[in-house]
Amino acid sequence: MRPIYLDYNASTPIDPSVAVAMRPFLDEAFGNPSSEHWAGTSAKAALEKARAQVASLLGCEPNEIVFTSGGSEANNLAITGTFFALNRKGAHIITSAIEHPAVLAPCRFLERLGGSVTYLPVDRTGRVDPEDVRRAITAQTILISVMHANNEVGTIQPIEEIGAIAKEHGIRFHTDAAQSVGKIMTKVDKLGVDLLTIAGHKLYAPKGVGALYVRRGVELEPLVHGAGHELGRRAGTESVLLATGLGAACALVQDLTPMERIRTLRDRFWQALQDRFCDRVVLNGHNTERLPNTLNVSFVDKVGADLLRQLDGVAASTGSACHSDRIELSPVLAAMNVPERIGMGAIRFSLGRHTTSSEIDDVVARLAKIASP
Ligand SMILES: Cc1ncc(COP(=O)(O)O)c(C=O)c1O
Repeated sequence: MRPIYLDYNASTPIDPSVAVAMRPFLDEAFGNPSSEHWAGTSAKAALEKARAQVASLLGCEPNEIVFTSGGSEANNLAITGTFFALNRKGAHIITSAIEHPAVLAPCRFLERLGGSVTYLPVDRTGRVDPEDVRRAITAQTILISVMHANNEVGTIQPIEEIGAIAKEHGIRFHTDAAQSVGKIMTKVDKLGVDLLTIAGHKLYAPKGVGALYVRRGVELEPLVHGAGHELGRRAGTESVLLATGLGAACALVQDLTPMERIRTLRDRFWQALQDRFCDRVVLNGHNTERLPNTLNVSFVDKVGADLLRQLDGVAASTGSACHSDRIELSPVLAAMNVPERIGMGAIRFSLGRHTTSSEIDDVVARLAKIASP
């Protein structure tokens, strides 16, 4: 069986153009961007070029971009950095129940430090109701953090509406856009966000690099204290190698037209599954407000992990996790109130630039063999 990769939401391969851009920094271009001499100035120029490429994708100024070690660090800096910078004002954070652990875990950490957090519910499609955000705001609220698109089901949140509510109340607004950047529009002014997270390895850059957009004037306490790198927001000599990779990837995904082919393939995949399985297959997530590459489907009365095991060589993710000897529904599907006999059979297929129609045909044919009642 040839291996088939349908797990682009977990990680993407490094694009060849990204690898080419990074190559000089593995060889001769080793300077420290903070050094004053020739080796430093060329490194600094490369770092600033990368910063400008990230900024261009997000529609912001280069000095509003902070390079991080990935999406997790960017989320931690946004949330914990806000908590420590604004604790004179209050200690209440609003987020959603279906955030990535890189948002939920810092929230739980801050609860241990005396903060309070409202975890908003979502509907059956995984959407937050902006009116729930409005109702949750108190005089103590310092931050609203709602993800742009969910990693498991791909549901896109009404970020612009939530952003308008945040602005009306003068509350800082963060979105984790790790899954949406490079797949749908992510211009910060259009979204109305003050902080936005990106993760390199979801958009054809390497793992271990990401960035946080920080709107001008937004004060953050650094997580890593030290010298004044990244305008004092994150100490540590920048990896020009990784930043260059992220910059080149951002330049690559500026053009969203390849997503249309991916969307068409994804929709064909879903149609083919419906044709074969009828009401024994259920779509998880929003029908239209969903990432164009993501198809989270449940095979009713099956266990997703069992199906994936039988789909030997197909890389995809399940919606359930094994805890000791019990299989549990993913917290995202549980928050969406997906019934257990449906949720247990969930598989997330996420397509990307290298996915072909023959791979999709192959997977459909193999699913038809193994998942028939
Ligand atoms: C929505 C979301 N946020 C954050 C992250 C974490 O990013 P990283 O792996 O770069 O730390 C991920 C990665 O799975 C993600 O899907």
